[in-house]
Amino acid sequence: MALNALGRHLALVGFMGAGKTKIAPAVAERLGRRVVDADRLLEGRVQLTIGEFFAKRGETEFRIAEAALVRETLAHAEPAVIDLGGGAVKTPTARTALAERAFTVLLDVDAETAWRRVRGSDRPLAQDEALFRRIYDERLPVYRDAADAVVRSGDVDGVVLAAAGVHHETGALERLGELVPGDGPVVLVADQTVLGIHGAAAQTALGDRLRSVHELPPGEPAKQLPVVGRVWSELRIDRGGTVVALGGGATTDAAGFAAATYLRGVPWVAVPTTLVGQVDAGIGGKTAIDIPEGKNLVGAFHWPVRVVVDEALLETLPERETRQGRAELVKTELLAGRRLDVRGAAAYKAGICMRDPHDRGPRQWLNLGHTFAHGLEAAADFDLPHGEAVALGLLAALRLSGRDPAPVVDALDPQPVRVDRARAWEALLRDKKRSGDDINLVLLGDGGPYVAPRPADEVRAALDSLIRD
Ligand SMILES: NC(=O)c1ccc[n+]([C@@H]2O[C@H](COP(=O)([O-])OP(=O)(O)OC[C@H]3O[C@@H](n4cnc5c(N)ncnc54)[C@H](O)[C@@H]3O)[C@@H](O)[C@H]2O)c1
Ligand SMILES: [Zn+2]
Repeated sequence: MALNALGRHLALVGFMGAGKTKIAPAVAERLGRRVVDADRLLEGRVQLTIGEFFAKRGETEFRIAEAALVRETLAHAEPAVIDLGGGAVKTPTARTALAERAFTVLLDVDAETAWRRVRGSDRPLAQDEALFRRIYDERLPVYRDAADAVVRSGDVDGVVLAAAGVHHETGALERLGELVPGDGPVVLVADQTVLGIHGAAAQTALGDRLRSVHELPPGEPAKQLPVVGRVWSELRIDRGGTVVALGGGATTDAAGFAAATYLRGVPWVAVPTTLVGQVDAGIGGKTAIDIPEGKNLVGAFHWPVRVVVDEALLETLPERETRQGRAELVKTELLAGRRLDVRGAAAYKAGICMRDPHDRGPRQWLNLGHTFAHGLEAAADFDLPHGEAVALGLLAALRLSGRDPAPVVDALDPQPVRVDRARAWEALLRDKKRSGDDINLVLLGDGGPYVAPRPADEVRAALDSLIRD
């Protein structure tokens, strides 16, 4: 079973009327991939419509041609989104090729809805309701068997989340034992506070698979080398074991880094328990620890084999921590250009990170407002919560983009901070690539985010407007 679509084709399967053809381009856009429509490709090759092919040469010959085309498409190295014909998974060779080369998502639709959508069309197998329903019943188990994930018909975010290995479900913590892939041993890593609140439920859910529990100090101190060093020493698993990180971004960063480096990499599962974690830190496979020279300077890209987003875990989160997450949520809404809930924001981040797992392009967009935030945080000796700094940074980014700051003011009401202006400016310049007198920033245009240079004096004025005397 494939765990995600990283470096693999994403194949959409499902009964006729499941809406594969409609959803495929939307999913492809989110993942930055091309779409292959298997039926249209076949029609082009044989110069017949599917209906004509069926009528002239029969279903058996059609399936043979279809399976050959599926194998050929899957053999392409560049991962695509493949819209497979409704019957393609009937052929064993096509199923084998899918298992080897693709992450397969079943778009689930009930027989009633599917029939309503396709009746009256010229599809050869949609001419008679009784026949249609019989084929539906026959195929459903075949689809389920071939699928790595099942998503409701029409749910683009659902497909993107599945493709990234993100499982969103309220109450999922109770099913953690099933949600950790494989059946090998599991070690649980959590900070002291989270262990006290949710540790017992997690341990119960992991049951017999749980080997050991490792406690981290709460918050940023978890991301220190001696802490990770202790986890390395305590881990008693081979590569068949899985690290489960239960906690906020500090825990998932530290435990994910421990998993990335132990035995040159063991699988890990992120179970983010903060809003920051569920919409941001737990998703995308960046792990890191801090060194005296700076935050997140030592780390690794190590995609979690699963991310479990259970919003019920947020019920115990203190309000000041929720505020941190709200800033990242508003940032994500600005990038996406629409209102988002936790699931939608997680899906947006998952899509960007799938497009750019190693942070070479569009992933930089996620830094909207962060150049300013980092300057303010450093000038405040990190005594300014990241969320407050990001809220202010978003204001500056919107101003420099020539956009209305109202969405940020209304949602986050950021207030200017009292820090040393010169120090903030120096800190901003330090982590920025400059091109002459210009500074590269993430900005928002009508078509979405982009990176562009802005004159240093404009950037400085925008930073100054976030600071009070
Ligand atoms: N890897 C990434 O892509 C990425 C992205 C964004 C941020 N980060 C990192 O994430 C870290 C910040 O993460 P964070 O904001 O989640 O903070 P955090 O992990 O420090 O947690 C904040 C506090 O909340 C407590 N807590 C966590 N879950 C709780 C719950 N359900 N109920 C009650 N208390 C709970 C913790 O014990 C801690 O005291 C930073 O180190 C940052 O660098 C990483
Ligand atoms: Zn941030």
